[in-house]
Amino acid sequence: MYDFSADAALPKPELYRDLAEAAEALIHGEPDGVANMANLAALIWQFLPDLNWSGFYRNVDGELVLGPFMGKPACIRIPFGKGVCGAAAATGETQVVPDVHAFPGHIACDAASRSELVVPVIRDGAVIAVIDLDSPTPERFDAEDAAGIERIARIAAAAI
Ligand code: SME
Repeated sequence: MYDFSADAALPKPELYRDLAEAAEALIHGEPDGVANMANLAALIWQFLPDLNWSGFYRNVDGELVLGPFMGKPACIRIPFGKGVCGAAAATGETQVVPDVHAFPGHIACDAASRSELVVPVIRDGAVIAVIDLDSPTPERFDAEDAAGIERIARIAAAAI
């Protein structure tokens, strides 16, 4: 049984440190990428307050395809360059979107989503997946969230 405890009252850097340590422990010794994505999506969901979606889209032959996630059923295929996820995949750069309604081409999978953070997972210089977090609260994500999830993406890069 895993019993990771998340203290949402912690300052973000400490919360993300705890999340990263839990992520390392969860994937340790496990070679199955689907299992690791599933557990990482669930861990992010458990640790971070105020989310309505957390999960992976994978680069499958140059298209983003839905991977393990927590939240409502979501769009299955996203072309590179489309929406927030596609922008992260096409540029290889983290996307922090304070207001999804103001993001050109945002893909509304859940009408409740108001802000979004998408971080590319990069291995050997290529985007192999993205981690997508959605929140019902505008301006939910800042630079500390981006840095924290980028750390999780580096852990995921070797495990998925
Ligand atoms: N909103 C995303 C699509 C994925 S869902 O939020 C799960 C986007 O614009 O890329």
